[in-house]
Amino acid sequence: MPSYIELKNISQSFQVNDSTITLFDKLNLSIYQGESYAITGPSGAGKSSLLMLASGLEQPTTGQGQYVKNDQIKSLDDLRTDIGFIFQQFHLLPELTALHNVALPLKLRGDKLAIVKAENWLAKVGLNHRKNHKPSELSGGEQQRVAIARALVFEPKFIFADEPTGNLDQKSANEVASILINCCHENNAGLVMVTHSEKLASRAQQIFSLADGKLTQPNNSNPKVMLCS
Ligand SMILES: Nc1ncnc2c1ncn2[C@@H]1O[C@H](COP(=O)(O)OP(=O)(O)OP(=O)(O)O)[C@@H](O)[C@H]1O
Ligand SMILES: [Mg+2]
Repeated sequence: MPSYIELKNISQSFQVNDSTITLFDKLNLSIYQGESYAITGPSGAGKSSLLMLASGLEQPTTGQGQYVKNDQIKSLDDLRTDIGFIFQQFHLLPELTALHNVALPLKLRGDKLAIVKAENWLAKVGLNHRKNHKPSELSGGEQQRVAIARALVFEPKFIFADEPTGNLDQKSANEVASILINCCHENNAGLVMVTHSEKLASRAQQIFSLADGKLTQPNNSNPKVMLCS
């Protein structure tokens, strides 16, 4: 039985000054290991917010999330060691070189081969020649590739990617998308990508649209994936 993440009836709202902004209400979503998902939708619809909730990095205002691992029900807090996250704004550590940014997740796990593996991943994303550069010395697209290598380097069960190719030209975007998708496929990882690119979205097995607080899936053919209520 594959591991999966289940969001049940989750709502997210923010209190801004005296008014409440509701991003979405009573939304359901299941994310299975080994499957790929794309979430599209207009700017400000709440895609990044949904990704933060699904990955357990933030808590919903109401509703429940659970992580079912080896048939055991766990909280989304337990996802921390099993996910790689590619942030829309990269979130690389500015004082570390590209190589040490990529090696960090492995070092935190005590992996003695951290540097060697990080070098391999930088080569895979086409950045070996920039390994000793700090983020401020890299272009936006290069930083994005470092962030992708950092998320994939420890072969997590789930990858969450917020606009993973947003700063890349079409050719680099295609290459990086292939690396991301192939890596998840090889490792039987679940992949959730937020993207404005129809081309990237079309490479996922399941495509969702988030708009006006609703998550819809035109042409839903997979009964394992739940739609919003
Ligand atoms: N902590 C917060 N407090 C108040 N409002 C917030 C907070 N986080 C997000 N928002 C608001 O929620 C809305 C959705 O934000 P989010 O970043 O999830 O959108 P998005 O769909 O990812 O947009 P984009 O495509 O531009 O990245 C925005 O209007 C944003 O201002
Ligand atoms: Mg966003």
